[in-house]
Amino acid sequence: MNQLNKEYLNLLLKSGVHTFQNDSPINFCNIHKKNENEREIDQKKGLDKIKSINELLLTLESYNNPLKTTANKLVFYDGNIKSKIMFIGEAPGKEEDESGKPFVGKAGQLLNKMLEAINLNRNEIYITNVIPWRPPNNRTPSEKEIIEFLPFLQKQIEIIKPKYMFLLGATAAKAILSTPLSLSKLRGKWHNYKSINMTNTINVLASYHPAYLLRSPQFKKEAWVDLKMLREQLNNEN
Ligand code: URA
Repeated sequence: MNQLNKEYLNLLLKSGVHTFQNDSPINFCNIHKKNENEREIDQKKGLDKIKSINELLLTLESYNNPLKTTANKLVFYDGNIKSKIMFIGEAPGKEEDESGKPFVGKAGQLLNKMLEAINLNRNEIYITNVIPWRPPNNRTPSEKEIIEFLPFLQKQIEIIKPKYMFLLGATAAKAILSTPLSLSKLRGKWHNYKSINMTNTINVLASYHPAYLLRSPQFKKEAWVDLKMLREQLNNEN
């Protein structure tokens, strides 16, 4: 520090100035945001040590998030934790929020039919969502919510270790394949997924969400092609 600056500092200290003002006013909203981020990080700290789906369920149950305050029930998973096939949807709807189980409403009934068409049933697959609490008024989950819950989804994948994943709709495709590409570009081909904690690569298909197929049945043809790709792969294994 040069002599002039030192003298100036001494002068300020002698005149009672102990802190310097910022160039711009403190934004108290940002301070609040930082605390919110810290809250998220704190709550996820123990995630690394989790080894089972039950432990993950307990962690989620004690996790605090704004969606939890508007939803009725936590919706975690359904099906078989030993399955090599994992289906991933978006977020619970009204019926799922009331029952605590994924895909039990109209979209779930269509999903059951889609599974039946390729000789699968719910006891042979593991099924979950990107977001475990229902967003208010069934709105699409925000990017922030997708990113917030991604570590929980990744942990589920690491525990279940599926060989195949079938992504239902754009939210699941965005979360797992980290791409802004539309489903029409992503569907119909195999993708790979691997996280740093995994040794094996998972084969992934993305297709239309059953709720979308209920609104736009003209896309059922393509969904059928995608389901058959999964069936063929399973047949080739045996
Ligand atoms: N839609 C989803 O994405 N998940 C459900 O569990 C129900 C409807």
